[in-house]
Amino acid sequence: MSFIVAIDGPAGCGKGTITKILASKLNLVNIDTGAMYRCVALEALRKNVLESDIEGLKKLLESIDIKIAEKDNKPQYILNEEDVTEAIRSPEVDSVVAKYAAVKIVRDKLTPMQRKIGNEKDSIMEGRDIGTVVFPNADVKIFLDCSLEERARRRYKQNLEKGINESYEEVLDGMIKRHKLETEREIAPFVKAEDSILVDSTHMSIEEVVNEIEKIIRRKRND
Ligand code: DC
Repeated sequence: MSFIVAIDGPAGCGKGTITKILASKLNLVNIDTGAMYRCVALEALRKNVLESDIEGLKKLLESIDIKIAEKDNKPQYILNEEDVTEAIRSPEVDSVVAKYAAVKIVRDKLTPMQRKIGNEKDSIMEGRDIGTVVFPNADVKIFLDCSLEERARRRYKQNLEKGINESYEEVLDGMIKRHKLETEREIAPFVKAEDSILVDSTHMSIEEVVNEIEKIIRRKRND
C-alpha cells in the first residue's frame, strides 16, 4: 500500500507551493487535483460545453485524457497530448472551474483517476476533498487554512508576477464566489475532515508551514 498525504485547503492558501517543496524533500509524487478539474474546465471552454449540458459533458469526459508528467522538476499537465500547464491557470479557467467541479459526472470521472494515481506510488495529493472523499484513510491529513484577505493578496501578487492583469478587488471577488460554490455544492463539498490536522498559514512563512507539515509526515513515517 502506498503512503498518502492529503492536503486540503482553499485557493491561495499556499498549498501548491508547499506541496511541491514537501514532495521533493520527502520523495513523494506531487498530485495537484485542482489542475485536473482545471483541465476539464479548459476543454469545456474550448468546446463551448456549459456545466449545465450534462450530455455534452459526458461526451467531453469520454474523450478527455489527462496526464501528469514532469519537466525541469516541475509538474506538467498534458490534456489530450497538449501541454496545458500554463493555459489551465488563466483567469478564464479560474472564473468557471468551480462550476464544473460541482458537477457529479465530472467528479465521478476524476475521483477514481486520483485514487489510481495515488495507489501507484507514495504521494502527496492536494485539493478540496482528498481527506474527506478521495483518500479518507490517508496516512496524514492536513487542512491548510488561511484568511480570505491574505489568500486574495497572495493570488493577486502571483498573478502580477505571471503578467495576469486582475485588480485585487477582482481577485477577492472571484475567490468569494468560488469559495461559496465549493463549500455549498452537494457533492464532495469543501469541508475540513474531522480527523485532519489544521495548519493556519495566515501569519506563517512558506518555510514555517513546510517545516511544520514535514515534521508531522516524518513522525508518521517513522523517518
Ligand atoms: O486548487 P485549485 O484552485 O487549482 O482548484 C481548481 C478548482 O477545482 C476549484 O474550484 C476547486 C476545485 N477542486 C475540487 O473541487 N476538488 C479538488 N479535489 C480539487 C479542486
